Amino acid sequence: MDKILVEGGRSLKGDVKISGAKNAALPILISSLLTDGVCTYRNVPDLKDIQSVKQLLSHLGAKIETSGDVVQIDAAGLFNHEAPYDLVRKMRASILVLCPLVARLKRARVSLPGGCAIGARPINLHLKGLASLGASIELNHGYVEASADFLKGSEFYFDMPTVTGTENLLMAAVLAKGVTVLRNAAREPEIVALVEVLNQMGANIKGAGTSIITIEGVPSLKPVSVSIIPDRIEAGTFMVAAALTRSDIRLLNCEPDHMKGMIHKLRQTGSDIQIEGKNIRIKGADEIRSIDLKTLPYPGFPTDMQAQFMVLMSVATGLSMISETVFENRFIHVCELRRLGADITVSGNTAIVKGVKALSGAPVMATDLRASASLILAGLVARGSTEVNRVYHLDRGYEAIEEKFGKLGAAIKRIR
Ligand code: EPZ
Repeated sequence: MDKILVEGGRSLKGDVKISGAKNAALPILISSLLTDGVCTYRNVPDLKDIQSVKQLLSHLGAKIETSGDVVQIDAAGLFNHEAPYDLVRKMRASILVLCPLVARLKRARVSLPGGCAIGARPINLHLKGLASLGASIELNHGYVEASADFLKGSEFYFDMPTVTGTENLLMAAVLAKGVTVLRNAAREPEIVALVEVLNQMGANIKGAGTSIITIEGVPSLKPVSVSIIPDRIEAGTFMVAAALTRSDIRLLNCEPDHMKGMIHKLRQTGSDIQIEGKNIRIKGADEIRSIDLKTLPYPGFPTDMQAQFMVLMSVATGLSMISETVFENRFIHVCELRRLGADITVSGNTAIVKGVKALSGAPVMATDLRASASLILAGLVARGSTEVNRVYHLDRGYEAIEEKFGKLGAAIKRIR
């Protein structure tokens, strides 16, 4: 298993290009199942999760061509309605093939994704929503078995905003008969990006980005050629790196409008952030001010940035209170940060972080995607060297992270 070694104490400088957004690319590539023709996707990040979704789509019968960051998918030959456990367990977002398969093949047999390190990750709302559109659903031997001769538009209320739940139901409703209204829908930029693609394919969807989305079903969709939006979480991760190392760097090819919550909180800690069109210039402050933080569905502060922010607070001046309201177990990185000398007390879904003068490098273990990014960040400022193990978690969601940090001047290398 690969590990990444980081020598702390270097400051960063220069530009870093932000890649396409993993959490936009996954549903958008899967939406190719909704049409029989060649869809072209540009600015697709080169990630393990993208490889997994391409493997799954080929398994279902789609033809896939990749050259650089351009992926072409032709789902005309879609024939297989089954997404097996060994593919779904590698990436939970595979559950997003459920609704497109029912919409196109009138049936689907998809392995239940199961939980992961950060929580139980249930899909009950995905299933209740699909059933409300007229599908019959059974759970047998760890699989969801869904079928419907046709889907009929309906009103569905999400008990809580779910990103992939909203995306799944959007892809069921676009080809359903009649109108579907999704209430308490997720509002993330990745939802808006998916809806823009579906509308370019001929769908008729209104309200994306608000909590009420209206979809008027259409008989069929046509192929599309689109570019994936920039990854706001990768961008946020590099911004925290600049704040942590008191550096002055520039992020290229971002979408600042998607990052208002993070930018607002980072400015509160003292960073100087200038928006320059699609680029962001950030200068870290000499003294990092501690602030309180609560993760919330978009447009609140993103849960995917909580671990990275906790590292910043661990070397801030004073006490900070971080509440994680989206997932029930997303403080796994706390134990690893304590090994690096952080002073963090957890009670329930709240962590109290007492800033320390400095962290000290040590071997640590990555446990989930964003927690492993936070360990790299900690290594950038910890005294001495930090060895991050199990970096396959990182490779799922960050494209060549050690190369990007290395180009900015960090002392970082991957040990195969
Ligand atoms: C998406 O996961 C992202 N993944 C996650 O990013 C992100 O952390 C999360 O949204 C929240 O922003 C992708 O987009 C591929 P949810 P998702 O459904 O859709 C509960 C990363 O690091 N819930 O919005 O699975 C659930 O338990 C990943 O890139 C139900 O109860 O998250 C959670 O508490 C990690 N029933 C809350 O909703 C359901 O049917 C939000 O989960 C569905 C969700």
